[in-house]
Parts: sequence; structure tokens; C-alpha cells
Amino acid sequence: MTVLPTRLDPAGADYAEHRAAMLGKLADLDAEHAKALAGGGPKYVERHRKRGKLLPRERIELLIDQDSPFLELSPLAAWGSDYPVGAALVTGIGVIEGVECVITANDPTVRGGASNPWTLRKALRANEIALTNRLPLVNLVESGGADLPSQKEIFIPGGALFRDLTCLSAAGIPTVAVVFGNSTAGGAYVPGMSDHTVMVKERAKVFLGGPPLVKMATGEESDDESLGGAEMHARTSGLADHFAVDEPDALRLARRVVARLDHRKPGPDPDVNAEPPKYDEDELLGIVPGDLKVPFDPREVIARIVDGSDFDEFKPLYGASLATGWARLHGYPVGILANAQGVLFNEESQKAAQFIQLANQRDIPLLFLHNTTGYMVGKDYEQGGIIKHGAMMINAVANSRVPHLSVLMGASYGAGHYGMCGRAYEPRFLFAWPSAKSAVMGPQQLAGVLSIVARQSAAAKGQPYDEDADAAIRAMVEQQIEAESLPVFLSGRLYDDGVIDPRDTRTVLGLCLSAIHNAPVEGARGYGVFRM
Ligand code: COA
Repeated sequence: MTVLPTRLDPAGADYAEHRAAMLGKLADLDAEHAKALAGGGPKYVERHRKRGKLLPRERIELLIDQDSPFLELSPLAAWGSDYPVGAALVTGIGVIEGVECVITANDPTVRGGASNPWTLRKALRANEIALTNRLPLVNLVESGGADLPSQKEIFIPGGALFRDLTCLSAAGIPTVAVVFGNSTAGGAYVPGMSDHTVMVKERAKVFLGGPPLVKMATGEESDDESLGGAEMHARTSGLADHFAVDEPDALRLARRVVARLDHRKPGPDPDVNAEPPKYDEDELLGIVPGDLKVPFDPREVIARIVDGSDFDEFKPLYGASLATGWARLHGYPVGILANAQGVLFNEESQKAAQFIQLANQRDIPLLFLHNTTGYMVGKDYEQGGIIKHGAMMINAVANSRVPHLSVLMGASYGAGHYGMCGRAYEPRFLFAWPSAKSAVMGPQQLAGVLSIVARQSAAAKGQPYDEDADAAIRAMVEQQIEAESLPVFLSGRLYDDGVIDPRDTRTVLGLCLSAIHNAPVEGARGYGVFRM
């Protein structure tokens, strides 16, 4: 039998403590998510409504199939920056007429929906998801174009937005633009480069230059409607394929466009008959200790996210600090790599490299569950070839071609973050739990290393070392690194696709696996499985 047993004691003191810590973090996270939902705040939301317009999430709700889920991505984008949380753009994956699509929607209540540097990053990430998973892309457009004060950050890289649209089209991935309002200057190329366009009567404004700019450039007198109204584009320029009488009509037309794509998903849908985990998902709240120095068994997590809690472990007696094994999640086969004791040793690295190659031979997606402080340091390990072995693991991850999913449950430090398929290793999706922390190393270690280096430098110069100043600097550095390791901070910088409630992990991963199967799932070929 490969059904995982559990040692978690929901009546115990540890469980209660871990759960309380996690619920505290979730409450803080809710407060940050609320900022994204609030958009530009009550004044601008009310003004928008008075104009008879829908908010971006309302537009999405009408666009997707009734009561179907919308997997919103990166809602905390721009957190900790000078720009509003959410980056004036909503992105995610939703089902339209049975077709999984990437959907983006400008939030016109936030500085006219103008694109700041974080909006750009978020939009480019959405395009990347559409491309790698071969998902149709639907853009709900209403934007003041480039955020003019930050134009230097976005003008040059921002050209990729329009390039992406035509590249998606060339790759056979459909693109749809639904224009609800302003879409001027560079923004005009969103409908301009899309396969299908819908424009809303008396609302859409799609022109390279508005009336004042035209007056300045050529002296010509004009108005919004004749320069870029929906009716003009539908009847005269031909830029609008569909003329919508109002917003709900535009969303109805967009749904019809998607229905007519006749999109065929090459992979299977989730198995509706998949057996749920044997243990309560709610118990995922009580597993990760508030103090990440205390280890936890990731099998307790696996037992609460995979079908029937069934986990067929690979090499359980070898490299025991990394659990590897096969499972199914909503019916999809997955290979799982999960840190069990924090540190990655030589054996764990070799085991991971072998396991990743096996998954590639079998075309099975991989799921990385992070709780690692990195690769082991010290004389014995260096002499034992830890660099070589870590490199094998990183090589295997980097050259693997099956889709990867990463979830940061706890620590994700140093090269361990890379070996476990951190952001730079391009997992198809990466999510963090509120308990996660990620940095080059732990705050105390980093502050301690800086202190040793400063001490050695002072000694080399023959100068006395100021111990009081050292203590103050150490405390300051520790605080700074701690703050920069937190999931909201990292999510703000688009280093993940969102911070999720642990209880939602199975659902989120199931939605991702379903989305991933819109593209062929094929492993790397050309090498045999070799032992290391
Ligand atoms: N860059 C920076 N801020 C912008 C902006 C932009 N492109 N577009 C709008 N904003 C700001 C406004 O200054 C205003 O700020 P405030 O509330 O602090 O005064 C806020 O966003 C809302 O703009 P407002 O004009 O009141 O909203 P609106 O809904 O009536 O009109 C637009 C929205 C987008 C039609 C209008 O603001 C506009 O024409 N903007 C410039 C568009 C443009 O030419 N962009 C250049 C493209 S490259």
C-alpha cells in the first residue's frame, strides 16, 4: 500500500500553535489582497460606476462561464513599490465557453488604468503563460496607456506587449481584444495586433493621437468618435470586427468569438472522479511551524493534496532529506520533490537528478515543494563533491522539459531555491504560502557573514573593530533581509504568481495542471537515465 499514514495530531499543542501562526499570516494577507480589490479607491470606483461602467473583476465574471473558477494571478503585484497594489491590472486563468483562457483586464479606476513598470511586468507574465501553455489570450482593455511619469521604465521594454500578441498569433494561439474605453497611442496596438476585436459603442476610443494631439500635429479639427469610436472602426476603418452596444453585449460577443475558435485541448481535463485526499485539507494550516528552523514532514502536506493521499515514494531509504515520488492530482500524474529536513546533501542532489530524468522519460509533470536552507556546506561535503552533485540537480532541473510547478511552503534559500525550480528556472507556475521565506540565505546567517567580513577587513587594515556598531548593524541587516524574504514582498516583485491559502493548494495546482495540458506534455529526449 502506498497511501500515506499521518502523524499529525490536530488535538496537540504544536498543531494549535502552527495553525494560529498560519491564520495570523492569512489575516495579514487578506488585508493586502483587499487593497488590490479596492482598485483606485472609493472616489474613483464611484466615478467609474456613475459612468455606467463595470469594474475589471465584474467584466471577468461576465466573461467566464457561470460559476466557474477564476485563478487570479499576482494580485499583490507592485506591493512595496510607489504604485498601488495590484498594478492597475487583473490577470488570471478562466474558462470561456469551456475553453481555458488567459484573461487580463485593465483597472481604469487606478490612475486611468495607465501602465506603470509593474503593470508591464504583470502583463508580460500573462503573455508568457498564454504562450507556454498555449492558452488563448483575452485582453479587456481600458487604459490611459503608458504611465507618463514612469515612461523611461516602460517605453522601451513595453514594445514587447505588442510583439507578444503577434507572436502568439503566429504560434497559432488566438488573441482577442475587447475595448471598453481608452486605448490610445501605443495602446491602440492591442486591438491592432489581436486576431479578434470587439469595441463598445460610444465608449471605445482607439486612435494613435487624440483630438488635441491631431490639432497640434496637423491643425485638423476632430473629435473622439470620428478619430477612434467603435462605430467608425466597425464601419469605416475595419479595425473593429464586432460592434457591441454596451459592456455586457461586448462580453457576450467575446464569448461567442471564443466559442467559434473551435479550440481543441490536446491533454485531458481533470478527472471528476479522482479520489480526494484521505485527510482534511483544513489540516494544512497546522503543519508548518511558525519558526522555520523547526523541521516538518512534507509527506503530511502531500497526504492532503494528492488523490487518495497515495504517494509512491522513490528511493525512500536514500537521501532521506528529500522525499521524491509519484502521485496523481485531480487525475493528472505528477512527480513530487519535497524537502524533508531542510538541507540538501550529496545523496539528495543525485536522487533528485535521477528522479527528474525519470519524469522526463515518462512525460510526467513535476511538483516542487520547497522547504530548504540550501546545499550543505563544510569540509566533508565539499570534499564529497557537493558542488558537483548540486550542479547535477540544477542541470537536471534546467534541462528538464516537462512542465514544473513550484510551491514555497517554508524556507527557500540559496542555490536550494534554484535546484528546487525557483522562479529563474521557469516553472510554469510558482506559488508561495504565507509561511514562505526566500533569500540568498537566512537573515541571521547573512548578517553574521557580513559581520565576519567587516571584522576581517578591519583586522587587515590594523584598525580596531567597533563591537557596538557591529551589533546595531547586524540587527538592522537582519530586519531588512527578513522583510525582503517575506512572500508579500516577493509577490510584489512578481517573483511568484501569487501567495495562496495552504487549504487552496490542491485546487490551485489542479487548475494549473489542467491549464498546462493545453500544450503537449513532453519530457527532454536524447539521454538515457543514468545513475549518479
Ligand atoms: N499617466 C499617468 N497618469 C495618468 C495617465 C497616464 N497616462 N492617464 C491618467 N492618469 C491619471 C490622471 O492624471 C488622474 O490623476 P488624478 O486623479 O490624481 O488627477 C487619474 O489618472 C485619473 O485620470 P482622469 O483623466 O481623471 O480619468 P478619466 O477616466 O476621466 O480619463 C483617460 C482617463 C485615460 C482617458 C485620461 O486620463 C487620458 O486621456 N490620459 C492620457 C492618455 C494618454 O495620452 N496616454 C499616453 C499614451 S502613450
